[in-house]
Amino acid sequence: MLLEGKAVIVTGAGGGIGRDIAIAMAAAGAAVVINDVGASLGGAGQSATPAEETRAIIERAGGRACISTDSVSEWTGAQKIVQAALDHFGRIDAVVNNAGILRDAMFHKLSPEDWLSVIAVHLNGSFFVSRAAADHFRAQEKGAYVHMTSTSGLIGNLGQSNYSAAKLGVAALSKSIALDMKRYNVRSNCIAPFAWSRMTSGIPAETPEQKARVEKLMRMTPAKNAPLAVYLASDAAQGVTGQIFAARNNEIVLMSQSRPLRTIHRGEGWTPDTIVEHGMAALKPSFVPLDCSADVFSWDPV
Ligand SMILES: NC(=O)c1ccc[n+]([C@@H]2O[C@H](COP(=O)([O-])OP(=O)(O)OC[C@H]3O[C@@H](n4cnc5c(N)ncnc54)[C@H](O)[C@@H]3O)[C@@H](O)[C@H]2O)c1
Repeated sequence: MLLEGKAVIVTGAGGGIGRDIAIAMAAAGAAVVINDVGASLGGAGQSATPAEETRAIIERAGGRACISTDSVSEWTGAQKIVQAALDHFGRIDAVVNNAGILRDAMFHKLSPEDWLSVIAVHLNGSFFVSRAAADHFRAQEKGAYVHMTSTSGLIGNLGQSNYSAAKLGVAALSKSIALDMKRYNVRSNCIAPFAWSRMTSGIPAETPEQKARVEKLMRMTPAKNAPLAVYLASDAAQGVTGQIFAARNNEIVLMSQSRPLRTIHRGEGWTPDTIVEHGMAALKPSFVPLDCSADVFSWDPV
């Protein structure tokens, strides 16, 4: 019971990965705020049903939970989500920023509206909920954040510039929180999850090869991401902060973070011409390939 006596917020907990994280948090002893607007994959509509279903699952198993249907993408909504933890459980110990939507399009066809709505839920939402909890974490000199990032942002993916930018932004937000709030004993980490959920169910399965690939992907249930989230929210993860993990079926990966790869120097400084002649020639062998998440995670989920 790693989270006995604690209260945890899980955003986007009405389905997919968030639901399984909420269930696992409750099973580990936490009282859980199940936040979810109950929107479609693209962010349209609103329903309390998904959050209520998660609560019913938790309560059937003997756990404690309340629901919040406020949107993470509004500052007032985020404040209400945090207030729900205080009103129902009298405390707040951890926040899992998991809510998300998808509006995929190739960059040259991406509309400003699809850019703004994805940034609003993933990046603004992670900021708003984190910031609303920060006052309490600071006052009690304790707290833990777990943010869902994505290898679409950390590595790259086609047709997801809005989502990738938001998710890399979430990773930078997490690192910044870890730096700024270390003095208050507050930890902040990211998980890049992998799961077969409605977010990934659009992957084509028409050809025999695609069908075989999708069958393997379907083995990666959302629940596989939950133990790491529970651990990171708990006191057992003391000293673990500013890190980015990936969870992929039965693998847990510690991801790298950007560091200088190679440096070139010229005592008299550079001109555009010397960059052409000397600089790029020296750097080119170390260029990062123009790859996607699936090129890097090229092995079948194990
Ligand atoms: N499925 C994957 O393989 C995968 C990979 C990388 C990252 N992720 C990330 O993991 C998280 C969960 O993804 P999922 O696959 O479970 O998706 P999902 O669509 O099943 O769940 C997302 C939930 O967020 C809720 N939501 C949307 N907008 C909201 C808002 N404004 N306020 C509150 N709730 C809102 C939705 O109603 C939904 O229940 C997301 O952040 C996603 O980007 C998923």
